[in-house]
Formats: sequence, structure tokens, C-alpha cells
Amino acid sequence: MTCEGKTSDVEAFFASAPSLRDEDTIRQRVQVFIDEHRSRHNRLVCVTSGGTTVPLERRCVRFIDNFSSGNRGAASTEYFLKADYAVIFLYRGGTIQPFCRSVPDDALLTCLEPDDSHGIKVRAEFYSDVEHAIRGNHEGLMSHKLLKVPYTTLFEYLQILQIIATAAHSLQRLAMFYLAAAVSDFYVPWESMGEHKIQSAGGSLAMQLAGVPKMISVLREGWAPNAFCVSFKLETDQTILIQKANDALRKYRVHAVVANELNTRRKKVTIVTANGDTVIERTDQAPDVEMELVGFLCEKHAEFISNGQYT
Ligand code: PMT
Repeated sequence: MTCEGKTSDVEAFFASAPSLRDEDTIRQRVQVFIDEHRSRHNRLVCVTSGGTTVPLERRCVRFIDNFSSGNRGAASTEYFLKADYAVIFLYRGGTIQPFCRSVPDDALLTCLEPDDSHGIKVRAEFYSDVEHAIRGNHEGLMSHKLLKVPYTTLFEYLQILQIIATAAHSLQRLAMFYLAAAVSDFYVPWESMGEHKIQSAGGSLAMQLAGVPKMISVLREGWAPNAFCVSFKLETDQTILIQKANDALRKYRVHAVVANELNTRRKKVTIVTANGDTVIERTDQAPDVEMELVGFLCEKHAEFISNGQYT
């Protein structure tokens, strides 16, 4: 393992993490979903989406958060489903859901209104967006092509990712990981965390955060070494973005790194692979960058499934 994902650090991280609520149920749902798609030789992608929280207290009142609206993960999930992938959508609770990108945040109160017969109806101006959301979600779930698994904390995210990745090992090259979630690099180890709300009487607060082992290395080398793995690189400084993405490509031996800058992330991404860079920019004709991004990655994954490599 690389120094950033040393076995001892990874084991220490999981050993000290609080136990995962509903672990057995999550494990079972994931296993059943993967078994079903393995028996049908389907391609399967795990899309991670949203930011992770880092609790500062065990009975958590305060936490540190990583920014991500979930739009990238939600949009990408829609296109993967369209490309006939089975999708495990590992998402931060409360972030944007597949097929719901056009629906307002407070959908219930904005999109619905009382009707004349003491019932509820969809407001006319939102009808097509609501219909798209309900039908898309329903079809995904009913066709068993979409499995949604929520998380909130960094601990939950990494514990569930491990469950999914070790189960997806059996799919070999048919599995893809699309790691769009914004994952914290720092955390407060559970054993050094206070039980109760941090008191403010002392004025300022100094805290020491430990480094989170880079789990991409572990995923690539241990959990699902034969899967196609796409990670993301987010920077706010455009001048270092592509270099950092290239560094990540080499260091974590992923198949592609999608580089994006915070302010332009909806308009432009650069896919960095061992074979060079591909820039995708949203045009007036395209609804978003994810359509072309996912199309590109599906092609590379298809080559990888056939040959164990891609151009
Ligand atoms: O959700 P949106 O608002 O649409 O925005 C989308 C996005 C900007 C969040 C998304 O496109 C994106 O860039 N996601 C990755 C953000 C991020 O965490 O970047 P990073 O440079 O800190 O991490 C790089 C990679 O390492 C990520 O794939 C992450 O999953 C992974 N990682 C991070 C920390 C850690 N301890 N282990 C990891 O494996």
C-alpha cells in the first residue's frame, strides 16, 4: 500500500470508527443487488455523491462539512442508468437526487397545492419536472437498476464504500467506481472525541485533526482491484488543477481522474487518463457536462472490460 493508505492506518481508522447503524441491512441490500446483476452479467457503477461530515462530538452538535451539492452525482446516475448500468448511488442524505435536478429544494411546498376536492395536486408550472422526477426514480427502483444508500458522516461513507467495494470484487471488470463525493481529508478520531457538546466558556477552541487515509489506494489495491476506478480532483486554483489530477492518477493508479474547478465545475471538466487529457465543455445544445462525461467513461469502461486496458 502507498504511504497514504498504509494497512495499519486504514485498520486503525476502521477499528476506531463508531459501529455502522443498520450495518447488516446495508450489507444485505448491497449483496442482493450485486448478486442479481452479477448473475445477469450487467455492468454496475457505484456513484458516490455529496460531502461527508466530520463530527466534533460523539453526541454530535457540531461538525465540519465538505462542500458538494450532489448535482454531479445525481446527473451522472441518470446517464449511467440510460447507458444500461446498474447503479449504487451512495449519497449524502439531503443532497440532490437523480431525476430531481429541476425540482426546487422545497418541492413539497412549492410544487403542490390544495385542489377543489380537499385533495392535493401538482401546480401546472411544475408538472413536467415533478413527473420526470417521480417516473425516473420509480423506474430505476422498480427495475432493480438503482439502489440508493444514504450516509452522513465520513465514518459512514467509508464503511459503506468498503462494504460495496468488497462485494463488487466478484463483478471483476464489470464494476466501475465513480467517486464524485467530496470526502474529508481530516477527522477527529472517535477515541479522542468528547462525549458531550464542546463548551464555549473557554473562548477560543484549538483542535488537532488526524489525517484520513486515502481510501482510493485501498479500494484499488485491496477491496476491488479489478474494477474500473474514476476519481475526482477539485481545486479552487485553476493553475494547479491538472498537475494535481496527474499526480493523483499516478499515485492512486486509478483509470481516470476528472479534474474540476469549483466555480466552473458545471461548465467544464477535464478527464485525465494515462493516454492524455480530454476537455469537456458544456455547449448551448448540451443540458450539462455529465452527459458527455459519462458517455466518454462508458466507452473507456467497455474497452477495459474487453481488453483489460483502454485507449
Ligand atoms: O456536488 P457538486 O456541487 O455538483 O460538485 C461536484 C464536485 C465538485 C464535489 C465533484 O465534481 C468533485 O470534484 N468531487 C471530489 C471532491 C474532492 O473531494 O476532491 P479531493 O481532491 O479532496 O479528493 C480527491 C479524491 O480522493 C476524491 O475522488 C475522493 O473521493 C477521494 N478521497 C478523498 C479523501 C480521502 N480520505 N479518501 C479518498 O479516497
